[in-house]
Amino acid sequence: MASIPSKSEESATKVPPENVSAQNMEVFISTLPTREGWSQPMVLYKNYWCRPHLVGMIMLLQDTFEPRRDDIILATQPKCGTTWLKALGFAITNRSRHSFRDHPLLASNPQYLVPFIEIPDPGRDHTYLETLSSPRLLSTHLPLSMLPAETSSCGCRIVYLCREPKDAFVSRWHFENKIVKGSNIELDRAFDMFCQGFSPSGPFWNHCLEYWKESLARPNEVLFLKYEELKSHPEEVVRQLAKFLGVPLTEEEESSGVAKEVVKLCSFENLTSLKVNQTGGVYHGNKIYVENSVFFRKGKVGDWANHMSEEMAEKIDRVIQEKLSGSGLAF
Ligand code: A3P
Repeated sequence: MASIPSKSEESATKVPPENVSAQNMEVFISTLPTREGWSQPMVLYKNYWCRPHLVGMIMLLQDTFEPRRDDIILATQPKCGTTWLKALGFAITNRSRHSFRDHPLLASNPQYLVPFIEIPDPGRDHTYLETLSSPRLLSTHLPLSMLPAETSSCGCRIVYLCREPKDAFVSRWHFENKIVKGSNIELDRAFDMFCQGFSPSGPFWNHCLEYWKESLARPNEVLFLKYEELKSHPEEVVRQLAKFLGVPLTEEEESSGVAKEVVKLCSFENLTSLKVNQTGGVYHGNKIYVENSVFFRKGKVGDWANHMSEEMAEKIDRVIQEKLSGSGLAF
C-alpha cells in the first residue's frame, strides 16, 4: 500500500529562499511532502508531484530561463505523446531546411531534437538553451504555473498535447516499470495512486486544466491539442499546427502533399522502423537508463481496455469527470 505523505500538504506551496545553495536546496527539498509508491519517492512541489532532483532544476529555470517572443514551447505530461509532438513540431518548423528523404528525424530520436527546458540533455547544462538561435523549438513537462512568468507575458507560443487519462495512465505504468531498474509496480497499486492525483507530474487533471484555461484565455498563444484528434485527423492537425506556429502550408505545399509527408515521417510506424529508435539510450543518474525505444510502445488509442477492468474504467472516468467539471474540457 502507498504510504501517507510524510509532511503537511501545506508546505508544498513553499518557496525556497533566494539564491539557494546546493546544501540549502537539499534541506529545502527535505521539507517538502514526500510519498513513496512509484519507482522512486516523489515530492510535492508547488502542488505537483515530481522526482526530488527535478526541484533544483525547476528552480534554476526560474532564475536562468529567458523566454523569447518567438520561442515555441511544446508542453505535455509524460506519456501523452511528447515524442510525437516533438517530431511533428520539428518537421513542420524545419521543413524548408530539410528534405523528407534526408531528414534529421531519420537519424535522431525526436526527444533529442527538441530540448526540455527543465531537464538538460546529458552532457549539457541549462546555459545550452541560450546558445540556440531563434526561433527556438523547446519542450517541457512542467505545468503552466511552474514556467517563469515571462513565458506568459512575452507572447511566445505554447502547444499543449494531452491524452485520454486511461491511456496516459497505462502508458505511464508500462514506462515506469521499464525505465527504472528493478521496478515492478502492480497495475492496481499504480491505478489507485493515479486516481488520487499521485503520479509523476500529477495530479494529471490539474496539469491539463491549467493549459486548457490558458488556451481559452489566450488562443493565439496557447494551442490545446489531444492525442486522439491527432490520431484521427493527423493531416488536419499538421495544418492547424503550421498555421498556429506562423508557418502555414502554402498552396504549393498543399498541392505537393506536404501535410501527408509530415504525417508519414512522424508516424509511429516510420519512427519505430528506424534503427536510431530501436537501439541506444541515455543514462539519467545511475538508476534510470532511458532507451531510445522506450518512447514507443503501441501508439494506439484505447489500449487501456487491455489492462483495466470495467470497474476501474468507471472509477477513473468518474474521478476525471468530477475534476474537470465545469471547465468545458472532457475526454
Ligand atoms: P503507448 O505507451 O500508449 O504506446 P511520450 O512521448 O509522452 O513519452 O508518450 C509515449 C506514448 O506515445 C506511448 O504510448 C508511445 O507509443 C506513443 N507514441 C510515441 N511516438 C508516437 C507516434 N509517432 N505516433 C503515435 N504515438 C506515439
